[in-house]
Amino acid sequence: MSGDSEKNPVLGFDLGTTFSALARWIDGRGPRIIQNKTGQDTTQSVVYYNPEKDEYIVGQIAYRRGLITPENMIVGVKRLMDDANQKVLLGGKEFNPVDISAIILEKIYEDAKSKFPKGVFSSRGSVVTVPFYFKAHQIENTRTAAERANINCIGIIQEPIAASLCYAYQLSEEYPEKEFSENILVFDLGGGTFDLTLFRLEQTKKSLNFEVLGTGGDDRLGGMDFDACFADLILKKNQLSLDGLTPIQFNQSRQKLMEATIDAKKTLSSTTECWVSVPFIIPPDKNIDCEMTREEFETSIQLHVRKIKEIIQNLWKKSGIKPSQVDRIIRVGGSSAIPCMKALLDDVIGESKVWSNANPSTSIAEGAAMYAAYLDNRGFFDKDIVIYTRTCHALGIKTVKREGRNFKELIPANHRTPCKVKQVFTTYQDNVPFLDIDIYQGAGPVIRRDTHSHIGTISITDLPPRPAGKLDVEVTFKIDEEQMLSVTVVAEGQQKSAILNYT
Ligand SMILES: Nc1ncnc2c1ncn2[C@@H]1O[C@H](COP(=O)(O)OP(=O)(O)OP(=O)(O)O)[C@@H](O)[C@H]1O
Ligand SMILES: [Mg+2]
Repeated sequence: MSGDSEKNPVLGFDLGTTFSALARWIDGRGPRIIQNKTGQDTTQSVVYYNPEKDEYIVGQIAYRRGLITPENMIVGVKRLMDDANQKVLLGGKEFNPVDISAIILEKIYEDAKSKFPKGVFSSRGSVVTVPFYFKAHQIENTRTAAERANINCIGIIQEPIAASLCYAYQLSEEYPEKEFSENILVFDLGGGTFDLTLFRLEQTKKSLNFEVLGTGGDDRLGGMDFDACFADLILKKNQLSLDGLTPIQFNQSRQKLMEATIDAKKTLSSTTECWVSVPFIIPPDKNIDCEMTREEFETSIQLHVRKIKEIIQNLWKKSGIKPSQVDRIIRVGGSSAIPCMKALLDDVIGESKVWSNANPSTSIAEGAAMYAAYLDNRGFFDKDIVIYTRTCHALGIKTVKREGRNFKELIPANHRTPCKVKQVFTTYQDNVPFLDIDIYQGAGPVIRRDTHSHIGTISITDLPPRPAGKLDVEVTFKIDEEQMLSVTVVAEGQQKSAILNYT
């Protein structure tokens, strides 16, 4: 089957912190964004719950209505995806982050379906994107959200890989016969996350190979943080403060302030000054009414800019690649449009090497649609897509605590995959009747909730009595091309295995 079936297309969903997007794949033409009902390429990842009608609204209208009743609205749920059980109260009703993410995916999908007669349009296979930094449980939570949204999820892809697929596709369309190899850096600065990924992209006659050479980033750095800095500055310039307001007044004033701030921030990406006015921001009669300049905005976010520079510097150190060895920078994410970010990349790598899609906010959804087409039918593209990657976090098992350590790494962070590692352990007590091998992903010698995530357990029971140190337990970790981790434990002739998703 081809990828451009009109009514049963393959789809790519970019589930962003602040904005989400949906693209379909059209054979011979490439990825195409499906605009939302209001004709926009991206939809605000905002959910508003109306308790009177028991209905959900997603997007800009949700945000606008939330200005009036903020307790019914949620923004930035992606930052809560590490805890599926977290309570989110909307209009007095309890939700969790997975429910909210499912509502966003479902509404975007419904918008696409509404362009066809009822019941006619359905996804043959969808791919949803996640940041490179997401750990196994965050990816699982995203997959669960996709299942709840009934979008027929056939895969998950990391955002920078999706963005570079888009670029690689353009290149291979332009030069289908040419063999080349380039070092590319994906600089993705969105609403909530900063992701930096360095790849070697190689095109041969048979395949398109991606090898991840290094990564860096911060999952708490993006446009939302810039908004907070700039909003504080705008208040200060108008000699105003939101202190002392009632909770309802505070929410309403804060929302109005944020809307004006974000508008001003975006305007300042194309002009050097703009006027900001919010009448009656503080009841009964205080207004925001002032001119703001690009320089003031960029100064207000200096701390974050410095952090971004540090993360870039660290990437050179970690990967051993010099800036001069980078052939191309792919600029992705709405916040990468900010002039000082552009200037930063021009400075570090050189203007001529920076590439961006016409709309840097849509490349990820477009790349995801391409990956969906590939998973749906591997023959759709005349080349295989091979992704060699590196582990983001170390993988290992929980051991008995010795010298303060209880995490034994089998595969370190930043290790090339596919790979296979085998290690033999032994028991520390006499006559151990059973073993529970707990598999973790994380950083640091001690397993802690905030640094490690538990990704599985393998149990071996009915062990014969053996003295301490006399029972060999062989543990093998293998990561295949699909980035699935298989763990095999062999003890006293018994063998148990589990396939785990760790990416
Ligand atoms: N022209 C612009 N200038 C400055 N910032 C912009 C511009 N356009 C969009 N943004 C900001 O970009 C962010 C949204 O970008 P994007 O859609 O790439 O993020 P996201 O996918 O929601 O976030 P993430 O990738 O972190 O999950 C918002 O913070 C928005 O205010
Ligand atoms: Mg994004």
